[in-house]
Amino acid sequence: MDDITALILDDHAAFRRGFARLDDARNPEQMRAVWEPLALHLEIHAEAEERILYPHLLRRGGEDAEAESLDAIRDHNKIRDAIDESRRHDIGSDEWWSAVWEARRENTEHLGEEEDEGLPDFRKHASIELRAELGAQWLAFYREHPAGKGLMFRDKDPERYVEAYTE
Ligand SMILES: [Fe+2]
Ligand SMILES: [Fe+2]
Repeated sequence: MDDITALILDDHAAFRRGFARLDDARNPEQMRAVWEPLALHLEIHAEAEERILYPHLLRRGGEDAEAESLDAIRDHNKIRDAIDESRRHDIGSDEWWSAVWEARRENTEHLGEEEDEGLPDFRKHASIELRAELGAQWLAFYREHPAGKGLMFRDKDPERYVEAYTE
């Protein structure tokens, strides 16, 4: 079985490796080759969590599930905003690096919170069957949206998002 929380950790490891690879990129072509797929993966991952993980965390998680979800959507928005900002600048320019570092800092902070708060909460409260079922949905989501095809990566209002799944 593919436990959704394990699949999420695999993505998180890929993000850390991606940002580390960026440190070794020596020219704009190399930077583009690392950053574009990494940025897209970050966007697809956040969208997948918002569609597949957080609705279930909100319904089944512990008493902190709401706060964890609010934090997550806020963080995803900050990461999306930094990625959008990077796309407004020439790759390798100071402005580009500054946006990429903003995405990196926000992402690193977010991964830690998700791994230490939201995911443990979900593991404690969700059945093994649900974790496997959502793992299958996660893989299907990636299959159905190769390179993010058909997805819009928009910021979401955190309060409205949480309300929609807790009514
Ligand atoms: Fe994540
Ligand atoms: Fe996340």
